[in-house]
Amino acid sequence: MAADSKSVKMADGAVKSGGSAGQAAKAGTVPTLEVKNLSISFGGLKAVDGFNVVIEKGQLYGLIGPNGAGKTTVFNLLTGVYKPDTGVILLDGKNITGRKTIEINQEGIARTFQNIRLFKELSVLDNVKVGLHNHHKYSTLEGILRLPSFYKVEKEMNERAMELLSVFDLDKECDYKASNLPYGKQRKLEIARALATDPKLLLLDEPAAGMNPNETAELMETIRFVREKFNMTILLIEHDMKLVAGICERLTVLNFGQVLTQGETSEVLNDRRVITAYLGE
Ligand SMILES: Nc1ncnc2c1ncn2[C@@H]1O[C@H](COP(=O)(O)OP(=O)(O)OP(=O)(O)O)[C@@H](O)[C@H]1O
Ligand SMILES: [Mg+2]
Repeated sequence: MAADSKSVKMADGAVKSGGSAGQAAKAGTVPTLEVKNLSISFGGLKAVDGFNVVIEKGQLYGLIGPNGAGKTTVFNLLTGVYKPDTGVILLDGKNITGRKTIEINQEGIARTFQNIRLFKELSVLDNVKVGLHNHHKYSTLEGILRLPSFYKVEKEMNERAMELLSVFDLDKECDYKASNLPYGKQRKLEIARALATDPKLLLLDEPAAGMNPNETAELMETIRFVREKFNMTILLIEHDMKLVAGICERLTVLNFGQVLTQGETSEVLNDRRVITAYLGE
């Protein structure tokens, strides 16, 4: 992990030296994410049924539950992959329900996937630049004619992408093909690419899946670091309870598409119903 001394500014200039951790809702502030009564059925199966959650700015929030509980489907609903049958999704108080994936990303939700999705044949640098395209715009004509404004934007994008890569200790591998990175670094690159879109909310779907204990420990540090460095709000799905207990302030537990319980991490993890759901008793 790169040292804290690195200073990377996102487009909104948000750089934070820490202290956002676990801050509870301040009276009168709008939550970064508020979801009410979100549902979707596939055929007869209610994959998500009346889901609700409130996530405050800067929170590190966990979504847990047994296999098939509906966790990834919640992410797919939040990011417009599926349109909900019922419910409302508010991002910073703005209703984004039913919007297209690209629009939701531009509004400020970025995600990583349960199975890593990188542009495998592109370089590490180009993978991050794909994310940056959200914010750096030049017209097609400027691009084709290679006008000065095109070069200026390209230069800025390269610099910004390299800054982001150095935060994740990936700058030395910037010219590698993404598929040639070891697994743990591909996970980091996916997070870097998501951050390049300058989100308000970062969704991580099982970031530690397939990692060994050392990689998982390093990932925990990376996630903490991202939250502090970018003052980021993070919702993560994870089966690794050590990771969840180590970094999440609050949890929601899904079971058969429904919220079983939600609250502070230690309380939720000690809830008998949660233990029962996981053991399948
Ligand atoms: N597009 C779809 N069509 C039909 N069924 C689906 C679809 N997407 C999800 N499901 C079903 O919805 C349920 C919830 O799936 P989901 O992938 O959200 O679970 P999950 O909690 O992420 O599980 P895991 O921990 O195994 O990743 C499952 O029964 C799944 O088969
Ligand atoms: Mg899943």
